[in-house]
Amino acid sequence: MTDYPSLALEAEALVAGVPHLIANLSNLSALIHQTLPDLNWAGFYLLEGETLILGPFQGKPACIEIPVSRGVCGAAVREDRPQLVPDVHAFAGHIACDCASRSELVIPLHQNGRVVGVLDLDSPLPARFDEADRDGLLLLTRAVEPHLFP
Ligand code: SME
Repeated sequence: MTDYPSLALEAEALVAGVPHLIANLSNLSALIHQTLPDLNWAGFYLLEGETLILGPFQGKPACIEIPVSRGVCGAAVREDRPQLVPDVHAFAGHIACDCASRSELVIPLHQNGRVVGVLDLDSPLPARFDEADRDGLLLLTRAVEPHLFP
């Protein structure tokens, strides 16, 4: 089980005082990918209008543009809440970037209370993520959001 309180502190220390969004998202994707077992993709999409645009990530090359009307990432933006998907094949509208992905967790990111992007994690294992992962990654994103999007 991942020690999310420690990971959130480590993540915050990594980005605090660094005024470079791309650098910070790159380091966070690396930290998460290195720390959480059984991931095949970990990264960010940033909202531009009604479209999510691919940001820094670890994993295979991925879809560049995701309309907010589509995908697990789009649902996270539309509903402004995390999406815990134990079986991506059972999620209507799931967008397969890496066909190895079997489960997914998407956490919305905020600036002044408004969604500005998402953190997206994929796993080749079915039901890789549970409520503890969701809550732990919410802790992490809340710790880094003020530094990423001041
Ligand atoms: N599966 C996502 C697309 C992004 S990739 O997984 C990296 C979705 O359905 O929104």
